[in-house]
Amino acid sequence: AQRTLVLLKPDAVQRGLRGEILRRIEAKGYDIIALAQRTATAEELAAHYAEHEGKPFYPGLVEYMGSAPLVAIVAEGVNVIPGFRSLAGATNPTEAAPGTIRGDLSCEQDLPVIQNLVHGSDSEESAAREIGIWFPELG
Ligand code: GTP
Ligand code: MG
Repeated sequence: AQRTLVLLKPDAVQRGLRGEILRRIEAKGYDIIALAQRTATAEELAAHYAEHEGKPFYPGLVEYMGSAPLVAIVAEGVNVIPGFRSLAGATNPTEAAPGTIRGDLSCEQDLPVIQNLVHGSDSEESAAREIGIWFPELG
């Protein structure tokens, strides 16, 4: 089976949507093998979002992600990497289809960075790298 790194971003925690999002992951049939809530450090965020460094939304992204606690999760299942991305829906909540986490539970805001509740690894390479950042003991 495959493993992916999921983050319940600070807006998900602040809005009280941890249970709703975890329910969807479990209801789909994926197994949650690690879960931890904490406020991300600047080092963790710089490593996690290295691919976005230099983009116009990067400073806002790091500020949003470090502003309040998030929940880091390792989920496991056959094809869970694309499977969770499809549960999450498109990056922009306006474009995210109804039925998805972002489509059902978030909308666009007038902010420098899109707040869209969840992160999911986008490839096997990203998943291995990201699991190593958030759960070094599983790396
Ligand atoms: P993640 O699962 O969080 O990585 O989302 P993603 O893979 O759907 O999007 P991506 O990795 O491209 O971007 C990471 C995060 O940066 C997004 O979830 C948004 O919060 C933010 N972001 C991405 N693209 C834009 C953009 O064009 N404008 C703004 N304002 N924010 C963006
Ligand atoms: Mg991404």
